[in-house]
Amino acid sequence: MKIAVIGAGLSGLTCIKCCLDEGLDPTCFERSDDIGGVWRFSNDIEDGRASIYQSVVSNTSKEMMCFSDFPFPENYPNFVHNSKMLEYQRKYAEEFNLLKYIQFKTIVISAKKCKDFESSGRWNVTTEKDGKQETTIFDGVMVCSGHHIDPYYPLESYPGIKQFRGQYFHSHQYKNSDGFKGKRVVIVGMGNSAADIAVELSRTASQVFLSTRRGAWVISRVFDQGYPWDICFDTRFENFKRNTLPMGITAFLIEAKMNQWFCHANYGLQPVDRTQFKEPLINDELPSRITCGFVVVKPAVIDFTETAAKFDDGSIEENIDVVIFATGYSFSFPFLDESIIKMENNKANLYKYIVPPTLEKPTLGIIGLIQPLGPIMPTAELQGRWLTRVFKGLCPYPPLNMVMDDIAKKNKTFIKRFGTKRENRLQVDFIEYLDELAADIGVLPNIYSLFLSDPLLALALYFGPCTPMHYRLVGPGKWRPAREIIMTTWDRIVKATKTRVLKKRESSFSFVTKVLGALCVLAVFVAMVMCKY
Ligand SMILES: Cc1cc2nc3c(=O)[nH]c(=O)nc-3n(C[C@H](O)[C@H](O)[C@H](O)COP(=O)(O)OP(=O)(O)OC[C@H]3O[C@@H](n4cnc5c(N)ncnc54)[C@H](O)[C@@H]3O)c2cc1C
Ligand SMILES: *[C@@H]1O[C@H](CO)[C@@H](O)[C@H](O)[C@H]1NC(C)=O
Ligand SMILES: *[C@@H]1O[C@H](CO)[C@@H](O)[C@H](O)[C@H]1NC(C)=O
Ligand SMILES: *[C@@H]1O[C@H](CO)[C@@H](O)[C@H](O)[C@H]1NC(C)=O
Repeated sequence: MKIAVIGAGLSGLTCIKCCLDEGLDPTCFERSDDIGGVWRFSNDIEDGRASIYQSVVSNTSKEMMCFSDFPFPENYPNFVHNSKMLEYQRKYAEEFNLLKYIQFKTIVISAKKCKDFESSGRWNVTTEKDGKQETTIFDGVMVCSGHHIDPYYPLESYPGIKQFRGQYFHSHQYKNSDGFKGKRVVIVGMGNSAADIAVELSRTASQVFLSTRRGAWVISRVFDQGYPWDICFDTRFENFKRNTLPMGITAFLIEAKMNQWFCHANYGLQPVDRTQFKEPLINDELPSRITCGFVVVKPAVIDFTETAAKFDDGSIEENIDVVIFATGYSFSFPFLDESIIKMENNKANLYKYIVPPTLEKPTLGIIGLIQPLGPIMPTAELQGRWLTRVFKGLCPYPPLNMVMDDIAKKNKTFIKRFGTKRENRLQVDFIEYLDELAADIGVLPNIYSLFLSDPLLALALYFGPCTPMHYRLVGPGKWRPAREIIMTTWDRIVKATKTRVLKKRESSFSFVTKVLGALCVLAVFVAMVMCKY
């Protein structure tokens, strides 16, 4: 089967590999001249490619965000700078020999159903390279074109911005703090980029105002005992608690946890809707910059004048030099006909968040159009494994009415959990979603039976972080080293930071003496209690 992969970012790369693993014949089209997608930093803003700032560091940790059969090198830190993320992708492409399947500087103009689609499920894919167009027939299409390309820039909400005499732009144009010395800056939005840019500029600019309508929970990469946040957060046990306790109790527990670091209300960051769990914002320094006064949190901005910004509490900040709209992104699929993928409230309705439901044959899927409360890479990888097995007919695909039922059911749960806000539209529950895809293709380990046959592994799977290797233990694509890698996760996390180790002094208390000592203390205690009664 010939498969077209559109885009050579992380999703595209892993989809090429999924095709190869399943014995399919992939051809990947990438409009730029290199791999990396979002993660390939460049000082220029390129048409049709995501653009990041120089200082972007991953907000998910390396043990969680690797591909399931390709751990990060041990000498990488737990959270990696974008240059290292790109380096990792290069290693991945080299290890599995993926580059030869990619046609660079080739843009996909359209993917249309062939005339005999209902029987063949084939696609007519038109590409353009050096001004020359070419049409090729494919048996399947994997769309990996990313969703951080079109800036969402709601300028029409601020008619006054036309009079504003300072500079204003979308965060995708922000590269570094050069040129902001002594400036007074307003940042609109409260996503990861807004907070990152606010913190960075607060060291150069004379004042930064961070304007948020809804607020956000902020968590630090440095979480409980200094472990990466996602290692603590994304475990099956934690997930079970979050999803089975009544909503009110979960919200209360999350709130208590979030306010442990600092009280969000006192820092002006308390989310408006506390019961709905919005993706937390990950930033290690924001509260510090706020308490030192370099960043001032403001409510929603309502409009601008020639020199000032007006906020919805009636306050006005004068002498503003720069406004940065960190208002996120829209997405679209210019190469697909509207009849194939319909957008509703900027949301695409897809079966399992992958396949457009109305296709007569499931031979096209969108990969990575999702925001899990965890890393995207292993999510995209498992989507790729799922889709290639659907292509081959090895993964059951239900009839249309069941597909629609499933979508409607998910829609309900989604609204209950994440609400209807635009910012949350791509959210899924990380572990629940991965487990569902994994179960479909038979790679979900059975933890209950493992408690009997391999209890240590079962404990690690249930109470430990849900790392990508969990989906390489059984079934198609099983990978021998997976168990060992799962069991040594914590060692590698610590090794990344424990770069200065104190020499062990000969301890006079060996482990055995310690245990004996503890037993003695216990015995004495029990004896005392018994004497008392
Ligand atoms: C600032 C920032 C930080 C992030 N940090 C994290 C993080 O820490 N952890 C995490 O899990 N996720 C993070 N993300 C999310 C990020 O989207 C994913 O990590 C991942 O890079 C998505 O990869 P992708 O391949 O799906 O898309 P992209 O990386 O956007 O790649 C898409 C590729 O498709 C190509 N393309 C598009 N259209 C066409 C076409 N018509 N024809 C041919 N080629 C085309 C583009 O040129 C591009 O190379 C971050 C995103 C941003 C913007
Ligand atoms: C593919 O598209 C081309 C150009 O639009 C068209 O001429 C051709 O008939 C199509 N092929 C199939 C099998 O649909
Ligand atoms: C990490 O940051 C990116 C870019 O802002 C965002 O899309 C993604 O959801 C974030 N991930 C988590 C787990 O917060
Ligand atoms: C999801 O639910 C909302 C609100 O009930 C509704 O407006 C929307 O059309 C639903 N979408 C789907 C795909 O069912």
